[in-house]
Amino acid sequence: KQKERQKLLDAYDLASRMYHFLLKNTEHGREAMDYLKGRGFSDKLIDHFQIGYAPPQWDTLSRQLTKREFPMELMKQGGLLLSRNDGSPYDLFRDRIMFPIWDARGRVVAFGGRILGEGGPKYLNSSESSLFHKSRTLYNFNHARPTIRKSRELVLFEGYVDVIKAWDAGIHNGVATMGTSLTEENAFMMHKNVDRIILCYDGDDAGRAAAYKNLSLLEKSGCEVKVALLPDRMDPDEYIGAHGGERFVREVIHDAVTSLKFKLIYLRKNHILIEDTGRIKYIQEALKLIAPLHSPMEREHYLKELAEEFDQSPETLKQELHQIRLEMQ
Ligand code: UTP
Ligand code: MN
Ligand code: MN
Ligand code: MN
Ligand code: MN
Repeated sequence: KQKERQKLLDAYDLASRMYHFLLKNTEHGREAMDYLKGRGFSDKLIDHFQIGYAPPQWDTLSRQLTKREFPMELMKQGGLLLSRNDGSPYDLFRDRIMFPIWDARGRVVAFGGRILGEGGPKYLNSSESSLFHKSRTLYNFNHARPTIRKSRELVLFEGYVDVIKAWDAGIHNGVATMGTSLTEENAFMMHKNVDRIILCYDGDDAGRAAAYKNLSLLEKSGCEVKVALLPDRMDPDEYIGAHGGERFVREVIHDAVTSLKFKLIYLRKNHILIEDTGRIKYIQEALKLIAPLHSPMEREHYLKELAEEFDQSPETLKQELHQIRLEMQ
């Protein structure tokens, strides 16, 4: 078993070095390189994140692994190769930009492979294996760990590219889960390492819904959570491309709002605030979010904001809040 694990690790290591080499040194790789350069990846970033390219052929990796006598069954179980009907192996990743995924110790245990340009599926990810468990893996944790340890804080992104571009902008405590679905195991692992999490998901409906959903899971684990707000339809990578890394750090990361503030913003979208009934409903729902806060000062703060915004007297809202708190007990 131990020997098999090591063999599989060796295979992933070989594959990542091969894909990286092919990106930088072949004709096919040049197209992929142009794509990456067009998206703002510098040579330094490509090297640091060991980005690679899997050519279109069906046997680029399988030939190398066969030549070096890696056991084919293990390579298939391990998620590197697929099997034809006659049992012969072929490559899972073809004509894709390759992002190696590391375990906490910095060993390659999986890949995320992106197609060049449009079409689908956009990303193909390695299947789970004895080395790779999605619910326990945080992309870039190996690089981010020293910074995370020092600051007791991390920034959680949706995608590999966001983590990489944020790194370039100086955010060295950024990680991503495998997709937006966060597990309790992820949350537990994060809280072991940090006290504060900044959620920095895409500025689209999917990203905001995921942020809303994951907030409570992260808070339940015991972390203080803030949410970075991105303009509509922009993800961190696109924001950095449009406005630069400095502004991203200053206006998106540093201006992240409290989880309650985010919930209030999110709640607003579901109410028609130009109508009296919608406005009243919103205020009531908002008070329900404010009511459970332990600190009277915090409650006061949000209550005041709400009162000012809707031109209500703070006293009336206070009475309402008091009522809700009584009902909560
Ligand atoms: P996004 O669709 O936001 O992709 O998915 P992205 O990170 O912005 O990628 P680019 O900028 O278009 O290259 C966020 C994450 O969801 C997972 C990937 O982990 C991706 O980084 N995902 C997305 C998949 O696993 N498969 C897909 O087909 C799409
Ligand atoms: Mn997205
Ligand atoms: Mn704690
Ligand atoms: Mn995105
Ligand atoms: Mn993107």
